[in-house]
Amino acid sequence: MRVLVVGGGGREHALVWKLSQSPEVRQLFCAPGNGGIADLAELVDIGAEDIETLAEFAEQKDVDLTIVGPEGALAKGIVDIFEKRGLRIFGPTKAAARLESSKIFAKHLMKKYHIPTAQFAVFDDPQAARAYVRQVGSPIVVKADGLCGGKGTIVAHTLSEALGAIDLLMEDRIFKQAGERVVIEERLIGEEVSFMVMTDGLTALPLLLAQDHKRLHDGDKGPNTGGMGAYAPTPVVDATLATQILEQVVMPTLRGLAAEGLPFKGVLYVGLILTSDGPRVLEYNVRFGDPEIQGILPLLESDLVPILDEAVEGRLSGTTTCRWRAGNCACVVLASAGYPGDFQIGKEIRGLESGAHQSGLLVFHAGTKKEQKRYVSWGGRVLNIVGLGEDLETALKRVYEAIGPIGFDGMIYRKDIGFRALKKPVSQS
Ligand code: AMP
Ligand code: GLY
Repeated sequence: MRVLVVGGGGREHALVWKLSQSPEVRQLFCAPGNGGIADLAELVDIGAEDIETLAEFAEQKDVDLTIVGPEGALAKGIVDIFEKRGLRIFGPTKAAARLESSKIFAKHLMKKYHIPTAQFAVFDDPQAARAYVRQVGSPIVVKADGLCGGKGTIVAHTLSEALGAIDLLMEDRIFKQAGERVVIEERLIGEEVSFMVMTDGLTALPLLLAQDHKRLHDGDKGPNTGGMGAYAPTPVVDATLATQILEQVVMPTLRGLAAEGLPFKGVLYVGLILTSDGPRVLEYNVRFGDPEIQGILPLLESDLVPILDEAVEGRLSGTTTCRWRAGNCACVVLASAGYPGDFQIGKEIRGLESGAHQSGLLVFHAGTKKEQKRYVSWGGRVLNIVGLGEDLETALKRVYEAIGPIGFDGMIYRKDIGFRALKKPVSQS
């Protein structure tokens, strides 16, 4: 079959890598792709959010299955456009994608269907929002309703930080209409985990649980990013807790959406915090997590194509399962200086050859571009170095050894990925 992957980050490289191993895939396209994906798929020069042009391309090339990486395309309605043309696509409709593109929609759904989450209030008037935070006090969390590339949530430790967040989002409109309305919610405490399922709306096929590292610096300091590293599986969720999350969070979410007339197909990603009162939902995403999936797919033994196919056709019956190989997988993100703020691109990447063929090691490109025989940085998150091992420590050792020779001007990365699971003291570097 001919398969199109939409997107051009580390997540899409991992997907293309996995799909390229399927005996069912004859031709693989990626739009727009990146320097690393260019070695495995035909790059198509169409932006991920140029959804009409993507649909025309898929029609012209007789693409049998399209898989969407980033949320922007889903929120814009790529699935609706493809399905209108009779094209097969793995992902939720625009209306169902509101689970990620509107935090207010997600919170109301959780409330209605009794899905455990933080207590919250919704505001469209900054004056009322300020009065509310003055009344309830800090710490408190202020979230923009709309998509903000992972930067729309402010965990405020003081009242003045909370008032400042309301100003930035609602008065200064730093995220334009995305911050027109806000959710203000209680601050929860606990470890965060990422639980993803592939679903046809009725059956949910769980992936291994992963943990992301959202903050830029070691010890979970600094600003929030898209994610600086991940590993799977995570020791903080055992089989009993995983079943509890599936039954109390994932299935009620899918059933709730269906009851609202919004059946969900694709990847449902639940970001949870494990509080002393049990798991609580922090956020939903409607696509594979990045970098979580780079740390999960290398452990998947099963062919991904039949699973995606069955999900698209609504026949992910109870008999389909994911087979996982034993061991652990870890992913460390190498980023450009300045990320997640302004950063420079076009820096030559050195030392990639050394890691490319080591066993138990994979390099997934994110923001890179291939120029003749060399690669240059072309984004905030540039590379994902991924290692497999019989335990997490071995996987991480492989990754950090492989990073040694790799470099580009201004490269930054976290040196403490996995520190919670390894129960190591937090590194201060
Ligand atoms: P979100 O934009 O909802 O994905 O949140 C981004 C990050 O902010 C999460 O990964 C958490 O680290 C933090 N966060 C969000 N909501 C809360 C909350 N209610 N309590 C504590 N931390 C939170
Ligand atoms: N790593 C978190 C996300 O994909 O949104």
